Amino acid sequence: MTDTPTTTRTAPGFEAAGFEAAVAALDSARRTTLALTDADDTELTAQHSPLMSPLVWDLAHVGQQEEQWLLQAADPDRDPVFHPAIACLYDAFEHPRATRTQLPLLDAATSRRALAEVRGRVLDALERTDPDDAHFTAGMVAQHEFQHGETMLATHNLRAGDPLLAPAPTPPGRPVPADAVLVPAGPFLLGADPAAEPWALDNELPQHEVHVPAFRIARVPVTNGEWAAFVAAGGYDDPRLWTPEGWSHRVAAGLRAPMAWEPDGAGWWTQRRFGAVRAVDPAEPVQHVDFHEAQAYARWAGARLPTEVEWEKACAWDPAAGRRRRWPWGDGPATPERANLGGTALGPAQVGAYPAGASAYGVEQMIGDVWEWTSSVFAPWPGFSAMLYADYSAPFFDGRYRVLRGGAWSTAAGAVRPSFRNWDHPIRRQIFTGVRLAWDA
Ligand code: AVJ
Ligand code: FE
Repeated sequence: MTDTPTTTRTAPGFEAAGFEAAVAALDSARRTTLALTDADDTELTAQHSPLMSPLVWDLAHVGQQEEQWLLQAADPDRDPVFHPAIACLYDAFEHPRATRTQLPLLDAATSRRALAEVRGRVLDALERTDPDDAHFTAGMVAQHEFQHGETMLATHNLRAGDPLLAPAPTPPGRPVPADAVLVPAGPFLLGADPAAEPWALDNELPQHEVHVPAFRIARVPVTNGEWAAFVAAGGYDDPRLWTPEGWSHRVAAGLRAPMAWEPDGAGWWTQRRFGAVRAVDPAEPVQHVDFHEAQAYARWAGARLPTEVEWEKACAWDPAAGRRRRWPWGDGPATPERANLGGTALGPAQVGAYPAGASAYGVEQMIGDVWEWTSSVFAPWPGFSAMLYADYSAPFFDGRYRVLRGGAWSTAAGAVRPSFRNWDHPIRRQIFTGVRLAWDA
């Protein structure tokens, strides 16, 4: 782990940037939250899917968490906006998603007022507090709200009825060689450098050197066209392609194709997306497949899933410079020419749409488009130490979760990095998941 010289952390410019970046991220996350909950109470309190919360729960939860980490943690005796009897309704561990409509939740108007009240007090407190920890915590809280923005997008996607959201365009794809990029063996610094990534969360730390054997990784994610060939070849009917656990789930859940794919009656497929039914685009990365499906596809294709360490090296390592890049393309910001992020596209861009986003090894679309399943079980890096929000990562180190990398079209640029680790149950597919293949070299 690289130690940050104290002089860098206390330089006035750094502190100002920390404050401004935190406020900008909080503001941006809030605009997303309000836009995704700009609907009537019937919409917001409905259980659109047993897999998801009513939107009004996410709405108040982000404010309750903001108050807990940015106000109550520093001063437990203050008079809270979310009183304990209310705050406990928004405890994700206490109340499973399918039960949340039965809780006496705050209505949408009251929730919005509570959010605004908390935010006003937070901005006030941020200006006054010693910035060292406060700016990290503000960044953490902003990332938490961004993450619920993605969750709310998944809810919108599953909702029945006419579309409420319209997609923004993405750049067109281009023909990309269907090849695999060699990442030669060699050392690599895994995890975030806190000097470069002040908002890295606990599970991305501490940075440490690892030796990664040579491997190959696909230049672009697996496409719908490729996935349709797997379906047509009987991939969902051949237990030899699946692990025993994956096969039992495939049978029990009756999986035949990615989530919301339906045969169009003419030999091809449609997919329902945010209330609109459209022909599946063969050039787009496949979306809404679970970990077991991803593994079965990889076996059928004569490949495997990358480990998360391989994935991060292919994404961030610059072998010529012998250092990490902040993003795959370099240290410049995420722009619409480099990655499909931010949640407005409502889906991935076609493969080949982001040549300017390629990593040092030439791997494309690692950041944005679809979350990529890795073969890795979510576990702490050596020397892990939990952050203030101690239950963010640690309760999920029990071996039941697989790691996803890179963010999706639904992810905010402020809530993803090459070192960012997402995780979920291997059967999850309502989130915006896809697949990238890897091979031993
Ligand atoms: C990091 C996306 C797995 O949504 O379950 C939100 C993030 N944690 N509130 C999730 C989270 C608490 C978490 N993931
Ligand atoms: Fe949460």
